[in-house]
Amino acid sequence: MTQDELKALVGQAATAYVQPGSVIGVGTGSTANYFIDALGRMKPGVAGAVASSERTAERLRGLGIRVLDANDVSSLAVYIDGADEIDHQGCMIKGGGGALTREKIVADLAERFVCIADESKLVQTLGRFALPVEVIPIARALVTRRLRSMGGEAVLREGFVTDNGCLILDVHGLTISDPAAVEREISQWPGVVTTGVFARNRASVCLLGTPGGVRTITF
Ligand code: 5RP
Repeated sequence: MTQDELKALVGQAATAYVQPGSVIGVGTGSTANYFIDALGRMKPGVAGAVASSERTAERLRGLGIRVLDANDVSSLAVYIDGADEIDHQGCMIKGGGGALTREKIVADLAERFVCIADESKLVQTLGRFALPVEVIPIARALVTRRLRSMGGEAVLREGFVTDNGCLILDVHGLTISDPAAVEREISQWPGVVTTGVFARNRASVCLLGTPGGVRTITF
């Protein structure tokens, strides 16, 4: 099976975690897109969704799914999204698509994070995928130096501006053996909007696409 077929498989499987008539959180990326398409086919469908990016909001609306503002929702039963890497504790690197800040906000509103990913995303230790860090433009150089002092080489994502008007640094060379500590540390630096380490908002369940079918990992 191709990587896209595995993504489509878990996108479809994730609909089992959606209560018809509920309001859910929806992630961003190619795997999340397969989920959105499957959501569009669900009958009866959801009452609405909080989107983690403008792209996702547009796709949801295109399928006739009502998009709600995160400010108008006090909690969500579930948030469904992909990941760039996920470890055996459910901690993730996210933000390959640059939507990490809104993803973390919507995930924080949800009682459960269901991660959907093809099997290549499951890792022993996070860090092979460059860690995205969203920064306010004026802090770019300062944060780059701080990241270097912790062993990471930050590369500015050229020509990319987030939905929040900020920049993304992709940080190479980090081995993230304590995701919660790395998330706490980077998050407190002035100018950092969000780090792509999702430890506090880690997955509760991962639906992993494998050639043998969907493997469900519960954390
Ligand atoms: C976007 C994300 C995505 O979930 C992550 O990049 C995985 O993307 P894909 O499903 O396309 O492999 O965090 O900001």
